[in-house]
Amino acid sequence: MADTLTITDNRTGKTYDVPITEDTIKAIDLRKIKVEDNDFGMMTYDPAFMNTASCRSAITFIDGDKGILEYRGYPIEQLAEKSTYLEVAYLLIHGQLPTTGQLSEWQHTITHHTILNENFRQLIDSFRFNAHPMGRMMASIAALGTFYPESKDIFDPAMRMKQIHRILAKVITIGAFNYRNSIGMPYAYPDNDLSYTGNFLNMMYRMTETKYTPSPVLERALDVLFILHADHEQNCSTNAMRAVGSSHVDPYSAVAAACAALYGPLHGGANEVVLQMLTEIGSVKNVPDFISRVKSGEGGRLMGFGHRVYKNYDPRAKIIKNVADQVFEITGRNPLLDIALELERIALEDDYFVKRKLYPNVDFYSGLIYQAMRFPTSMFTVLFAIARVSGWLSQWQEMLDDADQKIARPRQIYTGPKRRDYVPAEKR
Ligand code: ACO
Repeated sequence: MADTLTITDNRTGKTYDVPITEDTIKAIDLRKIKVEDNDFGMMTYDPAFMNTASCRSAITFIDGDKGILEYRGYPIEQLAEKSTYLEVAYLLIHGQLPTTGQLSEWQHTITHHTILNENFRQLIDSFRFNAHPMGRMMASIAALGTFYPESKDIFDPAMRMKQIHRILAKVITIGAFNYRNSIGMPYAYPDNDLSYTGNFLNMMYRMTETKYTPSPVLERALDVLFILHADHEQNCSTNAMRAVGSSHVDPYSAVAAACAALYGPLHGGANEVVLQMLTEIGSVKNVPDFISRVKSGEGGRLMGFGHRVYKNYDPRAKIIKNVADQVFEITGRNPLLDIALELERIALEDDYFVKRKLYPNVDFYSGLIYQAMRFPTSMFTVLFAIARVSGWLSQWQEMLDDADQKIARPRQIYTGPKRRDYVPAEKR
């Protein structure tokens, strides 16, 4: 049996054999299908990349029908239980789990890159107090690149790794400093004795105490949430990172573009909208009415439900529910949780959602946890961005090292007017 696809073009009667590798044909192989010799050749039309692989990748595996998520082959459930976010970041970037020595060196390096150049404070000071944290984040990361002009040297492995260290380290400082600025609090500087998430909580919440001690439960919960959000193969923001990075721009500019993609309510902005939705529903007794309105198309979508890839329970949503229980034991139960549980219960039994395979996604519960941890709703996407930076950077590296890749440049089917001559304004 040959690993080829035989295509007959009924316009011409000609037959073509197209090679199949990994259950995939190369779209470029279709270009030889022509009616006339000087035709452009056949293309595929695939808006939103519903059935097009844009790359080969060895980073994240998802089986959406079975609800499986693995980073470099390790199941997300095991990583969430046994690993730390920084170890997962190492795994994503380097492809292997670190040895003890590699891990402590990695943790030391990231920890010792968290300080921002003091001039950077002026940039943060210049935002209006009510500027959205994601607007601040995008602008801050793009601006951070201007401090490191050498970051343009993306094909020098050592220089590239240096930027990876800097970005991973400084995103928590950027997120926390922007928050402190928005509430008129003095900046809290990094503390190198703390873990990655402990340090982030320190920069967010330290008041007048000389030493901030994070709650171990909240520190670990945030770490697990960061692990769950670290990568998710070719999602909208990762695609933006790769597409923008394919022009060989510096990684700060590409990460800023990925942040912009993440900001949208259909992507990383969803957990913010979930909380708004739960607040608007207001009480468990209003849930059936809300579900009816979603089904009739009047109430918008049930935010935090559905996923382009998962057509089964999002494995991250299961882990998050356990994290929520641990966090609520410390912080007290979030009153919106009852509304969320009732929405989930009804939706999972309802034909509309069952037929369309709509299950809770990672964002359905994460917002409730973040709210209990005192993060303002508008900062939720920033937390997602901080965690996803490791995934973006590993995907960016993989793209740069992939000999198959070139500048991303899709084709189009032109549907505009045929060539016509310019008519002077007075004659139109
Ligand atoms: N509530 C109600 N109906 C929904 C929902 C929802 N949350 N999601 C999809 N549907 C319906 C659609 O109306 C459509 O119905 P139809 O066939 O009758 O027209 C059907 O299910 C398929 O939906 P699509 O939009 O075609 O699915 P797609 O794969 O393009 O969308 C998406 C995936 C964007 C996540 C969608 O499910 C959605 O908008 N969900 C709510 C927003 C959300 O939670 N986003 C977070 C995603 S996870 C993340 O980024 C980390």
